[in-house]
Amino acid sequence: MVAVLVLLAGCQSQQIDVRQLVGPSDKVSFSEDVQPILTRSCGGCHIGNRTSGVSLDSYQQVTTSVGAQYGRRIVEPEGGVVPLLDKIGPSPQFGDRMPLGRSPLAPDEIATIQAWLDDGAPDN
Ligand code: HEC
Repeated sequence: MVAVLVLLAGCQSQQIDVRQLVGPSDKVSFSEDVQPILTRSCGGCHIGNRTSGVSLDSYQQVTTSVGAQYGRRIVEPEGGVVPLLDKIGPSPQFGDRMPLGRSPLAPDEIATIQAWLDDGAPDN
């Protein structure tokens, strides 16, 4: 992310298509980018545990968990709301901001999870 920003800053005066810089080669990886954030930040409650229907131990768990409050899979959008993303934002539709009782995720961590969801939550 930082590298891309630096690159963009350096190329400001030239006509560069941003979509070429953040194209498919920069795709977020579930195993390398997303799972480590979840393992680091959601432990105790959704790692090794299922809380409110949600277990975040693996790709399979993350993509099949059905949130008790949202009543659907946490990666499934409805009316523009994806529970997994909604819950790490400032004002979720149900309950408290995650991770519960801890500092919010950093903006780049949220952006990583959002990018992975935007890609269609691939197993990569
Ligand atoms: C200290 C325990 C704790 C931690 C840490 C925690 N959660 Fe939760 N989570 C809960 C509880 C309790 C609920 C149900 C109450 C609520 O939503 O406020 C919940 C609910 C949720 C839901 C909604 C499920 C539903 O009911 O539909 C999602 C999605 C979620 N958490 C994701 C996360 C993510 C992602 C992280 C890490 C960034 C995280 N949580 C960290 C305890 C925790």
